Amino acid sequence: MPQDSKGLTCYISCMNNHFAKPAHAREDWTIDQGWSDYSSEEHGTWDALYERLMDVLPNRAAPEFLNGLEALDLHRGGIPNFERISDDLETLTGWRVGAVPGVVPDEVFFDLLANRRFPAGNFIRKPDQLDYIQEPDVFHDVFGHVPMLTDPVFADYMVAYGEGGLRSLRHASLKNLAALYWYTVEFGLIQTDLGLRIYGAGIVSSPAESRFSLAATSPNRIAFDLQRLMKTDYRIDDFQQTYFVIDSYEQLFRATVDTDFAPLYADMQGQFNLKPDDILPSDKVITRGTQAYANKGGRFAA
Ligand code: PHE
Ligand code: FE
Repeated sequence: MPQDSKGLTCYISCMNNHFAKPAHAREDWTIDQGWSDYSSEEHGTWDALYERLMDVLPNRAAPEFLNGLEALDLHRGGIPNFERISDDLETLTGWRVGAVPGVVPDEVFFDLLANRRFPAGNFIRKPDQLDYIQEPDVFHDVFGHVPMLTDPVFADYMVAYGEGGLRSLRHASLKNLAALYWYTVEFGLIQTDLGLRIYGAGIVSSPAESRFSLAATSPNRIAFDLQRLMKTDYRIDDFQQTYFVIDSYEQLFRATVDTDFAPLYADMQGQFNLKPDDILPSDKVITRGTQAYANKGGRFAA
């Protein structure tokens, strides 16, 4: 089994959830982080994960991500206090981080994003789960997602995504919109002058996928194409078989904000016509993958 340490499921992969707000949650579903309740072992788990990622991410993660870690002082040690990082983040792009009690309903998730609130789990994985967890924890949510929110264009993209999500609830196309989040916010790559870099939270919170996504011969790497990507199914339990590559956050922002999704939703009807490893004649292929990793059974290979 590859060494891995990311949350393999994310809010977005469990969409279509409807359930009642826990009694201790506020009106907007946020709860207290309970920062003073973390044990020294829990802070140590954050530090151990942080150290592992820092062996891998320089020269692999996007400059905006690495700058974000610095800007929010995320390396100072221990699980960050959400209030502290939120005060810094709010000054930069207006975003704040709020703890939520696990997965929240879709409309709550979108509404939080539309209001520049990033929902984060407050629990941290156990020491014996450094390499694999089922549910996104504070490390995935904060280390993975929050640094990119310091970039003004990416920060605005996340707001637009939340607003678009609220609008999408009137169509039966949540899965197609979820694919957009999946292949950008979670597993996106960006082309830079220095070469391919990672900006997706699901990748940067995993040492193994950080290496795999950029260097392995197995996966496809295909230039970002909004309509194509929203029809592409994705795997939530293993490394991606295809990564989509943007040229800039501006490109991502413009392609999504300037497009009315309603006709696209009508056309797709919530269906995925493309498998995770399909390559189309119209694709701008950056790497044609061998798919050797997936074909051998991926994470479950003997
Ligand atoms: N333009 C999209 C719509 O018409 C909204 C959207 C913007 C979705 C940005 C995602 C990201 O619904
Ligand atoms: Fe995530």
